[in-house]
Amino acid sequence: MPDIEGTKDTHDYYPDIPQQVEPTKLKGCGSLGWGMVNRLNNIFRPETGRTVMLAVDHGYFMGPTSGLERIDVTIVPLLPFADTLMCTRGILRSLVPPTYTRGIVLRASGGPSILKELSNEEIAVDIEDAIRLNVSALAVQVFVGGEYETRSLHNMTRLVDLGNRYGIPVLGVTAVGRDMARDAKYMRLATRICAELGATYVKTYFVEEGFETVTAACPVPIVIAGGKKVSEREALTMAYNAIQQGACGVDMGRNIFQSEAPAAMIQAVSQVVHHDLKPQAAFDLYQTLQRQGG
Ligand code: 5RP
Repeated sequence: MPDIEGTKDTHDYYPDIPQQVEPTKLKGCGSLGWGMVNRLNNIFRPETGRTVMLAVDHGYFMGPTSGLERIDVTIVPLLPFADTLMCTRGILRSLVPPTYTRGIVLRASGGPSILKELSNEEIAVDIEDAIRLNVSALAVQVFVGGEYETRSLHNMTRLVDLGNRYGIPVLGVTAVGRDMARDAKYMRLATRICAELGATYVKTYFVEEGFETVTAACPVPIVIAGGKKVSEREALTMAYNAIQQGACGVDMGRNIFQSEAPAAMIQAVSQVVHHDLKPQAAFDLYQTLQRQGG
């Protein structure tokens, strides 16, 4: 009980100032609950409404991918430059220091390895464990057009229901199988299905032609995957073009951790995402930071 001795009469009602609470800038997220929006703000920087997610979850079906052999050595030093880390619960518990207080996006689907049919996934995390781990979102792979399309969409809708119960956002990750077209028509289909079925935000691949139609047709934020390793200049150009065409960030893995200078690369990507730095300037920044040992 507070000491009530000396309590002053209240008088600061500011009747001339209308009550205001700044609404979230995030597309399509205005009607979400407080906990969910608070978690989204651990992923998307509130000042820009954009994010640099560092994706290191590849091991859940690929094993120790190049650059991820020793996450403690190669990835933990990059954490200060990422807005969010996307990883599995195994890596989170064993290698990510609990002093890391930014958002964690937890890989929540899995099952098959690269040796099997990848679309045959199931939900791989109990919602209670996700809550215990204090994660900011759950990520689930969706294989539109894949062999187990319905199962993967059902995984997502189950997680959306569980996430809604506890205020945890769900990231629908559109997977592109070997035989699927990587064009705007497919990306519009896949991202829109994820959003319609309740994903809080959606991850997809950038396409050179018509990407702005993908972001326009998706009623929730889109982040792009980095995809296979390309040159630093190309990856920075892709990030720039995606942001200028309506993406709200990147969820980039190999183009950061397989870069010659991962710390320099993630800082350059961050400038592109949060400050609209143009590709040439971002590449110059990358090279400068690389020379400085970044
Ligand atoms: C794996 C994933 C990865 O997180 C995603 O592919 C991002 O990594 P990259 O930029 O290397 O493509 O979702 O299923």
